[in-house]
Amino acid sequence: MISTVIIGAGNMGSAFYKGLASQRKTDRVWLCDQHRDKLEIAPTDRRIDHPANAGNVAECILLAVKPQSFAALMAAVGKIWSDKLVISIMAGITMKVIADATGASAVVRAMPNLGARVRRSITGWYPSPTVTSIQIKHTQELFSAIGMTVRLKEELQIDGFTAVAGSGPAYVFLLAELIENAARDLGIDEATSAQIARNLLGAGSLLLDEKERSAEQWRDAVTSKGGTTEAAMRVLQERGLPDIFRDAIAAAAERSRSLSHDDKSH
Ligand SMILES: NC(=O)c1ccc[n+]([C@@H]2O[C@H](COP(=O)([O-])OP(=O)(O)OC[C@H]3O[C@@H](n4cnc5c(N)ncnc54)[C@H](OP(=O)(O)O)[C@@H]3O)[C@@H](O)[C@H]2O)c1
Repeated sequence: MISTVIIGAGNMGSAFYKGLASQRKTDRVWLCDQHRDKLEIAPTDRRIDHPANAGNVAECILLAVKPQSFAALMAAVGKIWSDKLVISIMAGITMKVIADATGASAVVRAMPNLGARVRRSITGWYPSPTVTSIQIKHTQELFSAIGMTVRLKEELQIDGFTAVAGSGPAYVFLLAELIENAARDLGIDEATSAQIARNLLGAGSLLLDEKERSAEQWRDAVTSKGGTTEAAMRVLQERGLPDIFRDAIAAAAERSRSLSHDDKSH
């Protein structure tokens, strides 16, 4: 493991640190945040309270701050990471912007998702041509700590990946919310409705655990001819759910593309 400082110990940065800690891989990992309380998940000698000190201990900087915090962060640090591997999980900030701001030529851009909290992220990542094979191996190891990893073929694929996988948890939560609301409409009490919605998502783990069937095959398997599930599926198809989903995800991809070209977000 290359020595690494995670800058930003919020949702994602803390998930990274905890994922690495659960695999006993934090020997050479430091955590940095402007809120000292967020550093408490790391031992005292692994805490850094100012990002300008990150380069003193690490060969790799993992940027896990919000995109809108990036400009202020770099203004405080200056261009002192030119010899570092800089990995960014910030949405909508291109490798060029990161390379220009940090001075680094070895840059990896990545998109994890909230599944990172339970080591079930799927992270898409793309390295600049100057990233060495040792740095590639290190990147794989870091992202494996929070789930599965996919190396993308070009940076532009990050936008589609963000729309499907980065925003993906929200689609699943929406589905749970809609099922919960529908259960209440049918007269089921509030607590039971919420419990049903949560437990149903457990069916999703069949997709992970029993990979011989696709999502479509699982759906077919539980949809008997003339049965209740078929009645529901017919309404969903007739009202255009597949088209709505396609349009929604296309809108997310377009937003990701436009964020990359919106200088104000940097
Ligand atoms: N959350 C997700 O599901 C998700 C999924 C994929 C990718 N991402 C990406 O992951 C990144 C982090 O998201 P998040 O949800 O983890 O954000 P977050 O919870 O807000 O965590 C970021 C942390 O970094 C701190 N910070 C900001 N500027 C700093 C500086 N100059 N020095 C030290 N610490 C600083 C923040 O402090 P303040 O609160 O004071 O700013 C905050 O504690 C974002 O760029 C986002 O695009 C997030």
